[in-house]
Amino acid sequence: MVKQVVTTICFILFHCVICYWAFRSSCNIHSSPKSVPTIAKYFGTKGRYEEVNTYLIDDILAINNSIATLPSSKCSAIHLTAIIRHGTRLPSNSKVHNMLDFYNLVVRDASDKLNCLSEIKSHWTMWYTGDMDGQLADKGNDDLRYLGQRLIKWFPSLLSLDKVRNGGVKLMTSSKHRCVNSTIAFRTGLMQEERFISELEIEENDALMRYFAQCERFLKEVENNENALEEVKRFNEGPEMKRTMEKLADRLEVPYSSITYDSIEAAFYLCSYEFTIKGLNSPWCELFDEADALVMEYSSDLKQYWKRSYGHEINRKSSCILFRDLFYRLDRIVGQFNSSGTVSEIVTVQVGHAETLIPLLTLLDMFKDDTPLKSTNFATQQNRTFRSSRFVPYTANLLVALYDCPDGIRMGVRLNEKPLTLPGLSESVPMYEDVKSHYSALLSGCDQETVCKINNL
Ligand SMILES: *[C@@H]1O[C@H](CO)[C@@H](O)[C@H](O)[C@H]1NC(C)=O
Ligand SMILES: *[C@@H]1O[C@H](CO)[C@@H](O)[C@H](O)[C@H]1NC(C)=O
Ligand SMILES: *[C@@H]1O[C@H](CO)[C@@H](O)[C@H](O)[C@H]1NC(C)=O
Ligand SMILES: *[C@@H]1O[C@H](CO)[C@@H](O)[C@H](O)[C@H]1NC(C)=O
Repeated sequence: MVKQVVTTICFILFHCVICYWAFRSSCNIHSSPKSVPTIAKYFGTKGRYEEVNTYLIDDILAINNSIATLPSSKCSAIHLTAIIRHGTRLPSNSKVHNMLDFYNLVVRDASDKLNCLSEIKSHWTMWYTGDMDGQLADKGNDDLRYLGQRLIKWFPSLLSLDKVRNGGVKLMTSSKHRCVNSTIAFRTGLMQEERFISELEIEENDALMRYFAQCERFLKEVENNENALEEVKRFNEGPEMKRTMEKLADRLEVPYSSITYDSIEAAFYLCSYEFTIKGLNSPWCELFDEADALVMEYSSDLKQYWKRSYGHEINRKSSCILFRDLFYRLDRIVGQFNSSGTVSEIVTVQVGHAETLIPLLTLLDMFKDDTPLKSTNFATQQNRTFRSSRFVPYTANLLVALYDCPDGIRMGVRLNEKPLTLPGLSESVPMYEDVKSHYSALLSGCDQETVCKINNL
């Protein structure tokens, strides 16, 4: 009797496994629900944070202590400033509109020959709606909450509950709801108990976190100037993109003329959003191979390069206000530490956008290639350092820490939790005074008002 029951259960289980396996593999290679699309590392600013720190896939609260470098074990952290991009978000209205158009095209016109296309038609539901408005996704809440918890592990002496509760931590955010909600989620991660949460207030500050929207010269020369993104337009109309669009049309078996740049971008977004928001390796991802993804990634990098980075001088300069705010505060902290041995502003958290971080990283000369990114040099830029997929995924963060060391105050910088040596400095955790002399021109020049004033010459 018992044996019969066991046999039956085994039989049922076996069938479930087979059915499940058959279902999962209906669109080629996907074998486990946790599987990562092979193209996930090319999602640019729409990428998942776990792709830049892959050990987090197994344990989201892990920190890799072996990478933390300090010149001496006698150094102790006295301050941390964290500039953080919001977490995983839902698409904006205009992107949803394009995604819906592309979905309709697939349902209406595409063949069913590819398994993934029949899977989209029969099983996939268009759940993106025009009112999502770029809101923070549930996954985005988790992103920031877990980052908060990891920062406690990275800087235990600075983020003790005691210090957090006693006014040592300042939270600032852009007024955009996805940033405000990211900050709320981060605070939940810092506060180990619900009942303390309301003790920590959140300040909205767009002058610092959305400086790009207030820099007149940037708005005139880049944001509202069609010609500023000429290279992006040329690439999107160029041979590499054309070939990629034709490949997509061939897979769908639709005429080449029905695929526009908007539709291929929407298809790529459908793959990336399903993955980042829901953790799914969806059938949409099957519409791209790695070569296609490299082209899509380059297009998006070109846009960041010309709109937010080295493409135009004003892009990096627009972040002067944030740069100066950082050093103004660090100076005050060092001064206070020098005279009293204590610090009142222990941790400052500033939550903003990819557009907040990229110009600042550019001002610091990070990810600068010898040759500019252009519409014509996709092939020779394969090994570029300017890859937004690697440095500004959702939840990207720049961590600046001050340390009290036997030889004085030192400054350590990490990007996405990984230590980095600032370009032009020889040490990974240099003396604070050396950092300041390295940036002396920016500290005395780089004045927001002058830089952003429209020059009428
Ligand atoms: C931690 O960082 C070290 C040094 O970069 C690296 O060799 C190691 O693989 C990392 N550990 C994990 C789990 O990623
Ligand atoms: C922000 O969080 C609040 C509270 O959880 C929620 O009601 C609201 O819908 C969220 N807004 C966005 C834009 O995510
Ligand atoms: C702090 O002390 C160091 C070493 O005495 C000195 O070089 C530095 O100028 C002081 N900084 C400030 C802001 O007071
Ligand atoms: C990129 O780097 C790889 C490995 O170092 C090298 O084989 C390849 O030629 C480089 N490609 C370009 C375009 O520089």
